[in-house]
Amino acid sequence: MQLFNNVNAMHEWCREQKKQGKTIGLVPTMGYLHDGHMSLVKAARQDCDIVVVSIFVNPIQFGQGEDYETYPRELEKDSALLANEKTDAIFAPGVKEMYPAGYDAYVEVQGAITGKMCGASRPGHFKGVTTVVSKLFHICQPDRAYFGQKDAQQLLIIKKMVRDLNFPLEIVRMPIVRESDGLAMSSRNVYLNAEERQQALVLNQALKTAANNIRGGERDIKKIHQQIKDMIETQPLAQIDYIEISSGENLTDLEEMRGEILLALAVKFGKTRLIDNLLVEV
Ligand code: PAJ
Repeated sequence: MQLFNNVNAMHEWCREQKKQGKTIGLVPTMGYLHDGHMSLVKAARQDCDIVVVSIFVNPIQFGQGEDYETYPRELEKDSALLANEKTDAIFAPGVKEMYPAGYDAYVEVQGAITGKMCGASRPGHFKGVTTVVSKLFHICQPDRAYFGQKDAQQLLIIKKMVRDLNFPLEIVRMPIVRESDGLAMSSRNVYLNAEERQQALVLNQALKTAANNIRGGERDIKKIHQQIKDMIETQPLAQIDYIEISSGENLTDLEEMRGEILLALAVKFGKTRLIDNLLVEV
């Protein structure tokens, strides 16, 4: 397994692999890897000749007062996990390597898809994500790039960017990996104390209850929304950021409960903001 910190060296190496006719699978991450990330790596390993995993805590996708400085970092442990899954290369550039002095270029997807949910709560966040992901696509030239349904809005925005800007690659969507008690895996779960961790289980429970009600015939969007809210509010530490019921294809508001429906939420427990979601087909 090779480790690259330098953009040009990574780019040259990927170009050489492509010249040899090999397919490249890219898994972009911010590190502190868990089984959710590793499910993406495993899928890339199955599908592609070469697997590249990027580890970069991207400063421009964090807002003021967010956790950029404290975001957990553990490159050595991550490297061991990736070596174990036969990753070919890790790309772990420094901030100055990705954004040298005088850096001025940004990629932004506009419209409803970025304006709501995390886009509304975290202004500039998705612009930071699409910029860094564009750079990673140019540097690594993947045939396929793997993203988790855990970040449902991020995934749809990246898909749209790839379509609108004609990036020559396929986005592969992977399901949410959860702890055995249902909590969606996240690098940020380490921030939770025992009480917050216990109360956070309500997120998956509320989503599952709502999905079951929809499957059972409930079609009133307001009612479903209220049920999720009521369930989450049974937990005293929960502070709701948003609960959204929208189209799973493009996040537009639903006129009626039909097709692929995304139930998505962001809730804070103490200082930790967690997101979770569930897709229901009606
Ligand atoms: P990060 O939060 O490290 O996540 C990297 C990838 O792992 C994302 O595609 C995310 O959806 C996926 N992932 C995280 N938790 C998961 C889980 N429990 N199950 C399945 N997949 C999961 O998302 C980012 O980093 C960044 O925004 C990035 C795309 C790397 C750009 O900086």
